[in-house]
Amino acid sequence: MDLSKILIVGSGAREYSMALAIKRDPRVKELFFAPGNGATSKLGENINISDLNKLADFVEKKNINLTIVGPEQPLVDGIVDIFEERGLKIFGSSKRASQLEGSKVFMKKFLNRYDIPTAKFLETSSIEQSYKFIENLNLPIVIKADGLCGGKGVIIATSYDEAKKTVGEMLSGNLFGSAGLKVVIEEFLDGYELSVFAISDGENFKLLPPAQDHKRLLTGNEGPNTGGMGAYAPTPLIDNELMEKIETRIIRPTLDGMRRDGNPFKGVLFAGLMIVNNEPYTLEFNVRFGDPECEILMPLFESSVAEMLYLASDNRLAEIDIKISNKKSVGVVIASKNYPYSSSQPAEIVVDEVVHKNEIGEHSHISYGGVSSDEDGKLFATGGRVIVAVGVGDNVQEARDRAYLLAGQIHFAGKQFRTDIAYQALK
Ligand code: AMP
Ligand code: GLY
Repeated sequence: MDLSKILIVGSGAREYSMALAIKRDPRVKELFFAPGNGATSKLGENINISDLNKLADFVEKKNINLTIVGPEQPLVDGIVDIFEERGLKIFGSSKRASQLEGSKVFMKKFLNRYDIPTAKFLETSSIEQSYKFIENLNLPIVIKADGLCGGKGVIIATSYDEAKKTVGEMLSGNLFGSAGLKVVIEEFLDGYELSVFAISDGENFKLLPPAQDHKRLLTGNEGPNTGGMGAYAPTPLIDNELMEKIETRIIRPTLDGMRRDGNPFKGVLFAGLMIVNNEPYTLEFNVRFGDPECEILMPLFESSVAEMLYLASDNRLAEIDIKISNKKSVGVVIASKNYPYSSSQPAEIVVDEVVHKNEIGEHSHISYGGVSSDEDGKLFATGGRVIVAVGVGDNVQEARDRAYLLAGQIHFAGKQFRTDIAYQALK
């Protein structure tokens, strides 16, 4: 297995964290990022090619051994199909399998067909049908646009009027354009959320430690939904019995069902779950690592991440013994001033010298996301979620203390972060 040249597609802290993990394998010599960010250029070479066929040309020309895809959009656009047709190794799900994330309607129908637990729902493009279904649900009511909406396509309506108005705006195309022309209306599940990841080669799979994200912007679970403001793993909220239920009722039947349907799932299956009275329900699937979940899972691998992803892409996952440390990991997202409402003025990032010198740097590290760099190598916060401060420790408290100690050493104008990441583990 030649791991010497690897390309990572994406530009966030998720992709940066994969790069850090992959580089721990001494067989990896050169990293490329498409497009990468202002900090990935210090770990490898940033390539500015967005056309998927041209990117495949580049990979061929450079003899890159493996391509790893971070975000969902290129997967849904068929990057894996294009690369595999040309005999290029790539870790990610095919265009058809990516419909698990790309279409809520596809996903809900699939779950129903295989009897996999999820919220009761109606999928429709009819306003009359929507109204009838809404009138028979209890409040609040969850309305989802069918297509990809950058994480914003879910509205939780607290009145019947709001539910009907939202459906009307989606179906008319006013709210999310064509992504909203079909909707899923579903019952509200009241519990706690959990992220479970399975690496799959289409046949076999390995579960990763269960993680918890924090989607709301502000401490205390207030404010608008975001892409995720912090995460930790493994979460002690899950015992073996619940993990077993998740595996046998959700993950395994999903991967088996996809195979049976002729869409074997290769890549990372990310199950967004709601746990209600100790029973797992599927809220959503994503066909990629979560962000910031990836940033906190990557430091927990003791075995080679590069080898794992290579073997998964080659239908040989059974050959590897994945080793995960028994440490805990906490990541705090540091976002820019106006996130998630609008972009912010670029702000220079300064990291205190102490991080590089003592134990702060030993048990914690930075994953860089929305950053750019200037010719002198100075970093600027230019994106929404700028940095994830990650701490690792023997328990959640220790890992969290280390993450926050690091977060305090990172400075840029307007920085904001939640101060309660992992609170559910410490209650
Ligand atoms: P989704 O993209 O489907 O995961 O939805 C985004 C967020 O909306 C989830 O992370 C939940 O916080 C919330 N959500 C989605 N569906 C439901 C549901 N049926 N009941 C309660 N909350 C939900
Ligand atoms: N952290 C949630 C997501 O990546 O969608």
